[in-house]
Amino acid sequence: MTFATQTFEQQLIDWRRELHQNPELSGQEVATTARIRHWLESAGLRLLPYTLATGVVAEVGHGDKVIALRADIDALPIHETSGVSFSSQHEGVMHACGHDVHSSVILGAALLLKEREDQLAGRVRLLFQPAEENFTGAKALIKAGALENVSAIFGMHNEPGLPVGTFATRGGAFYANVDRFVLRVKGKGAHAARPHEGHDPIVLASQLVIALQTIASRDIDTLDSVVVSVTRIQGGNTWNVLPENVELEGTVRTHRGDIQKQVEKRIREIASGLASAFGAQIEVEWFNGPVTLINDEKWAAFSMQVAENVGYKTQTSELHMGGEDFAVYLQTIPGAFVSIGSASPYGLHHSAFNPDEALIENAARYFATLAEQALLKN
Ligand code: NI
Repeated sequence: MTFATQTFEQQLIDWRRELHQNPELSGQEVATTARIRHWLESAGLRLLPYTLATGVVAEVGHGDKVIALRADIDALPIHETSGVSFSSQHEGVMHACGHDVHSSVILGAALLLKEREDQLAGRVRLLFQPAEENFTGAKALIKAGALENVSAIFGMHNEPGLPVGTFATRGGAFYANVDRFVLRVKGKGAHAARPHEGHDPIVLASQLVIALQTIASRDIDTLDSVVVSVTRIQGGNTWNVLPENVELEGTVRTHRGDIQKQVEKRIREIASGLASAFGAQIEVEWFNGPVTLINDEKWAAFSMQVAENVGYKTQTSELHMGGEDFAVYLQTIPGAFVSIGSASPYGLHHSAFNPDEALIENAARYFATLAEQALLKN
């Protein structure tokens, strides 16, 4: 099978647009899975018989050595306002993170690798992962066996802030550890005109928000990355009653396990200290989200070198404060996650997000080359 360049690019763009018009939320990617399966099978790729509710794993090549490429396939609960002719046909659901683009890139790489199947020094496993946005998909694929015998894994995210033709990555910590907390302030309600008869949880919650900001500014080394954000406060029903309870919610982003633990410890200390100072109680509920994405130094440098060789303008990436489910693979096996410029005027998770499709074909060629050359490395 050979693809004339124009046809190949158009094919990938057509696939991307079909996925874009038919987005599905995390864990519900049934039609998306069927489409990808069909496209892979039609191109002669082997589908691996894993038991998966959604998502597809395929393979190309022969031999013991295995390199994995991963795309994510889920969309977000956002009403699209990009105005493109192939806008979402599913009300309130949109590929606003570009996972449709990632899927078409790895589909393209699959097709190119199929063409060179006899020359490959091993197998390339192609992971079309569901449920990236709720951080459950990578775990599901690993549980199904998708990393068995894999020596290294690679994946991408498009980067709206970078021009097309630009590539960025970094060795070591890259995307952040993401934690979520809920703080339940229990005071004592009172008449708004007689506050001394209660323990006002609103004044306490206000102090709490300010005190939490001192963790980043006064507890953690200013050269280390940390974000503490309170994103929701709820309490009270009317103007003349001091409520009994206030609830706060927020997130912590870090890149190192020891700092993450220190932040959690400080939040608990501040909560308990303020609670006793105000004669109230504060319950802290903690949810550990995705872990820090840590690129293997060697594979990150290798992925950057290959990018340079195929004509990308490369740069070392800044730390990302967002989370990425790819981190879970890198806890098990080495590999590298990379950023490829998509030049969207609106950012990821924005309703008008519109990545430049010109990135797709080159990225497909890049990942095919990367996998082929990674098979030759020790
Ligand atoms: Ni994403």
